Amino acid sequence: MPITKNTFETMRLAMDLINDLNEPTCIALIGDLGAGKTVFVKGIAKALGINEVIQSPSFVLMRSYRGRMKLYHIDFYRIRISDEVIPFEEYFLADGITAIEWADRVKNVLPLERIDVKINIMGIEEREVTISDYRN
Ligand SMILES: Nc1ncnc2c1ncn2[C@@H]1O[C@H](COP(=O)(O)OP(=O)(O)OP(=O)(O)O)[C@@H](O)[C@H]1O
Ligand SMILES: [Mg+2]
Repeated sequence: MPITKNTFETMRLAMDLINDLNEPTCIALIGDLGAGKTVFVKGIAKALGINEVIQSPSFVLMRSYRGRMKLYHIDFYRIRISDEVIPFEEYFLADGITAIEWADRVKNVLPLERIDVKINIMGIEEREVTISDYRN
């Protein structure tokens, strides 16, 4: 389990993950407030060559960005939507990276083939980042 010691190292882990990906992929981010989920998404964006500033899409469900692949950034912290209406498969997964913060809140509708990123706060700047690849 990698331990990161600052935001740059967390972004670096995200970049290493994305640099090896060429297919549309769902990345489920799980961790407490301030764990570093958005920091991880910033690393994803950087690896995709996206220069826009990434902010948590707190008041909208999703923001999308154009890069080497599209990035769909979704955050379920504030938004509760009944499970049936989340059209991950149809709208998001087909053509890009879908990064979902607070994914554990919609776990029953996440695609089974996905990558889970769990971030645990170990100290002020220490984070344990566990990446589990459930793709075939
Ligand atoms: N090793 C680290 N990795 C990531 N973030 C770190 C690290 N050390 C300190 N931080 C700090 O932790 C905070 C992470 O914030 P971030 O917005 O990414 O969290 P989040 O998990 O998205 O929270 P939220 O649930 O509110 O969306 C930032 O202030 C960042 O500077
Ligand atoms: Mg966030």
